[in-house]
Amino acid sequence: MIIIKKPKELQDFLESNRNEGKRIGFAPTMGALHAGHLSLVNENKKQNDVVVCSIFVNPTQFNDPEDFRKYPVTIEKDILLLEDAGCDVLFLPSVQDIYPSGTNDLNHYELGFLETVLEGKFRPGHFQGVCQIMHRLLEIVLPDNLYLGQKDYQQCMVIKRLIKLIGLDDKVKVTVCPTLREKDGLAMSSRNARLLPAERIKATTLFASLRYIKENLNPGTTKKIKDAGKQMLLQNGFRTDYIEIADANTLQLVENWNGKQKIVVLAAAFINNVRLIDNLQVNT
Ligand code: PAF
Repeated sequence: MIIIKKPKELQDFLESNRNEGKRIGFAPTMGALHAGHLSLVNENKKQNDVVVCSIFVNPTQFNDPEDFRKYPVTIEKDILLLEDAGCDVLFLPSVQDIYPSGTNDLNHYELGFLETVLEGKFRPGHFQGVCQIMHRLLEIVLPDNLYLGQKDYQQCMVIKRLIKLIGLDDKVKVTVCPTLREKDGLAMSSRNARLLPAERIKATTLFASLRYIKENLNPGTTKKIKDAGKQMLLQNGFRTDYIEIADANTLQLVENWNGKQKIVVLAAAFINNVRLIDNLQVNT
């Protein structure tokens, strides 16, 4: 695996590979890698000739400065994991390389409804930051295939929208890879590393509450079952941002389910100051 830090160097390297007819796959990450990330690399490897990953903890997508400060960094371990997983190129830029003119005057993206619900509502500015970094990374890497994790369900929708907005939808194909879970159901996440042992035990309730809703949801009004899911979280020491049922394609919230509409149950909740998110699709 080669490690490239400078955007221009990566662009030149990929350009010559592209000219040889090689397919380029890209999995962007913020490091602190776990098996979920490695599954993106695996998928990438199956479908491409050049497997690119990036590690960059993007400051512009953290609406909470403490979350940014405490975001786990395990770069040496990450490099070994990526090498083992068969990654060909690791892009490891600095903030200066990515935002040479600083972060004060970056693009604004028209994300419409997506920015007003769920993560968009509870993390103001977060998706603008995701678009700023992804726009930059996509222009540098210009991949044929992009790999994202389903755990960040809404982010996947936002990035697909960004790809349309910047006119790359004919060029970049997005593959969303399933969420990987620990044995007790907790969705793998870099932030899990911040949980203390007692918090880690409670954390599994996030998945349990989504599964409870998925398994007990009947056509009709959704309020009662959402409230039951929320109670499960509160009783286990969570503070909830939301636990919602939404249309799987648009993320419009579903108050009344007809039993046929494809939906997704999504939640975001804190254990002390660690914020976790998860989701389950119901009938897709
Ligand atoms: O999901 C993440 O790790 C990040 O939001 C991403 C897509 C790498 C952009 O910084």
